[in-house]
Amino acid sequence: MVSSAELQRFLDIATEAALAGGAVLQQYWGKLSDIQEKGRPGDLVTEADKASEAAVLTVIQRHFSDHAILAEESGRAGSADQPLLWAIDPLDGTTNYAHQYPACAVSVGLLIDGIPSVGAIFDPVHNDLYRAAKGLGATRNRRPIQVSSTATLSDSLLVTGFAYDRRETIDNNYAEFCHLTHLTQGVRRGGSAAIDLAHVASGRLDGYWERGLSPWDLAAGVVLVEEAGGCVSAYDEGPFEIESGRILATNGHLQTALSQALAGVKPLERFAPA
Ligand code: IPD
Ligand code: CA
Ligand code: CA
Repeated sequence: MVSSAELQRFLDIATEAALAGGAVLQQYWGKLSDIQEKGRPGDLVTEADKASEAAVLTVIQRHFSDHAILAEESGRAGSADQPLLWAIDPLDGTTNYAHQYPACAVSVGLLIDGIPSVGAIFDPVHNDLYRAAKGLGATRNRRPIQVSSTATLSDSLLVTGFAYDRRETIDNNYAEFCHLTHLTQGVRRGGSAAIDLAHVASGRLDGYWERGLSPWDLAAGVVLVEEAGGCVSAYDEGPFEIESGRILATNGHLQTALSQALAGVKPLERFAPA
């Protein structure tokens, strides 16, 4: 059992780390010289991703040398038995960042026994700092935030995303996107899972779903949504499993309606892989 004082300390260090990564992203904004594809088309990595990750890791490792780490660019470090695991995305929204489209973030989350428990997300373009820890509430720029009160899909604005394997799988979320676009006031494709979740937590968006994600995309944002009064689950409303890469996150009022809408969708054959 981790005390509130310990959670607060973890949150403060997560914040320091997210701000350190964010300062790096601000320096490189519009000045990238090294943009590469990691494997799949469109899956980019830049010198800003790497430098931000180094800055985040320096802070975390200085304070918690015994904690385990899962960072997008450098992978896993530390003991598999360690119950405290930092899940770090040094630049969530690399494609946006490379195009100077202003939706990206540093995401620093802490899993305790596999449960997202602490999160700090920093948006370096708007200088917005989102923070949350279990039982301690959620804030943007140190002011409390809460999810929206939208009660029906027809009144809602949602967000989703498409994983880098979208050309290889029929489970590419295109059909779900079309279906929900018809049922709602709109579905946005933000391009940064961390920012998508931060917007749900802030009440700017009413719900979010996506597949094909990694723990570093989700760990911090999940805590934000839950602490802002929202609900996070599997697509079928079962318990959220971070390793599944699938998330359904809403203001709570829309959880069942969005889950049921997703369950009835048939894949678009036209966009199936050849
Ligand atoms: C991506 C973003 C995007 C989501 C992708 C992620 P990256 O992260 O969060 O919104 O749709 O699935 O991989 O690659 O920019 O860190
Ligand atoms: Ca990411
Ligand atoms: Ca990333």
